[in-house]
Amino acid sequence: MKLLLATRSQDKVAEIAKILAVVPDLELVSLMDEKIEPLAEEEGIERYSTFEGNAEAKARYFAERSGLPVVADDSGLVVDALDGKPGVHSKRFAPGSGEISGEERDRANNEHLLALLGDLELSGRTARYVCVAAFIREGDETRTFRGEAEGLILGRPRGHGGFGYDPLFYDQKLGKTFAESSRFEKNDRSHRGKAFRALAEHLRSGAAAKGTGPRGPNR
Ligand code: IMP
Repeated sequence: MKLLLATRSQDKVAEIAKILAVVPDLELVSLMDEKIEPLAEEEGIERYSTFEGNAEAKARYFAERSGLPVVADDSGLVVDALDGKPGVHSKRFAPGSGEISGEERDRANNEHLLALLGDLELSGRTARYVCVAAFIREGDETRTFRGEAEGLILGRPRGHGGFGYDPLFYDQKLGKTFAESSRFEKNDRSHRGKAFRALAEHLRSGAAAKGTGPRGPNR
């Protein structure tokens, strides 16, 4: 099966391709491979209040544009002391972060998060990363696969790897932040790794081929 991965991030393609490599007869292609050019309307796709809603909307949109089976993901950070914020708004959390990008945006978001948490003690700084992968194929109902990674938000950044909130996200089992972890360690523990391994299992089990498998674990 040819499967379109709905992302323009080469890092995500490399990471996810490694996980889905266990699925026999799967040809994973990206938006770049298929020459699906970015359109302004794409900005409005992820407008839902849940990771599932956004991932499904993105998968549906690119399935319509490509005519291919599609997998799309949505992810973010959920902080308990902030009633689940930034959640689906993780990318543009800090005021004005919609107008900046890359490392500058990550820095602004991290500073905003630290300011909101103030001097709250570490035991109260519990959080989790969430990733939902949505798989859609004509004739099948859409399936979603959720992965979560638990951690603590430190009071200052540590490490230079990863991206986004990784320098603040401390994994107690690893004993370090995701930004201090190797790519392999992060993949093994991360929300994205877990969600896509669940998708890989689904594709491998053959249920997807028949279109008769049970609904996703989060339904
Ligand atoms: P997206 O689903 O790739 O658009 O991610 C949304 C936002 O969530 C990112 O811009 C990051 O701020 C945050 N995020 C999601 N996954 C991670 C991660 O693995 N590390 C750090 N930040 C993440």
